Amino acid sequence: MPRVVNTIAEWRALRAAHRAAGRTVGFVPTMGALHAGHASLFHAARRDCAVVLASVFVNPTQFDEKHDFELYPRMLDQDCALMDAAGVDVVFAPSVAEMYPNGTRYAVTENQFSRELCGAHRPGHFDGVLTVVMKLLQIADADRAYFGDKDQQQLQLIRGMVEAFFLPTQIVPCPTVREADGLAMSSRNARLSPAERALAPQFHQALVAAPTAAAARVQLEAAGFRVDYVEDRDGRRYGAVRLGATRLIDNVAR
Ligand code: PAF
Repeated sequence: MPRVVNTIAEWRALRAAHRAAGRTVGFVPTMGALHAGHASLFHAARRDCAVVLASVFVNPTQFDEKHDFELYPRMLDQDCALMDAAGVDVVFAPSVAEMYPNGTRYAVTENQFSRELCGAHRPGHFDGVLTVVMKLLQIADADRAYFGDKDQQQLQLIRGMVEAFFLPTQIVPCPTVREADGLAMSSRNARLSPAERALAPQFHQALVAAPTAAAARVQLEAAGFRVDYVEDRDGRRYGAVRLGATRLIDNVAR
């Protein structure tokens, strides 16, 4: 089983020993409720680095809806079993107080792309993501950090932040992992009812096959999805939809 550390001081002591021994560190930040998509990030880090660090932290500042934060699955024991199988060495699982000793007094803000696509529908979400990723990257002090293509807007914003603040960690993007029917893996998929789960693959199909973003929207609404947005930009089609209380996001190259 991976070693679980709950404090920054504990990880820093381990990090110093790895540095002294010349070992590279690969870091995978997560909010837990792990699935095969996360496992692919752990495998990529395992392939590249001597030590694999994962974090499991359900970050309160990136939830724009209180009930979504409260409902977010927390299952560290189960997550540790998956991380063990995927070759994770150390899990950083801090408390909210450990991560936010000054509350929300200090934060990272991006004022362009973070306001578009998902940001236009989830006010403050990306400020919360960037703030916690800034903290996690500073704590991890890793050589490389791994993020999934599924959260493409998040990935681009994190890359921009790393560049803007001259952070030394290399950001490594990893391909979206899909179910056999095309649905992108997500911790939120577990919340779909059987009927919603049966409908969900049409989201990816519409993004891939519809001739225009507007046509994809019409197709999805006719099928019973509530559509936050479908937009084509910079060679990708991005979408976010809701099925009941569950929000799904995806993107495909065009
Ligand atoms: O993608 C996620 O799971 C989260 O947004 C992240 C990057 C772990 C920050 O909380």
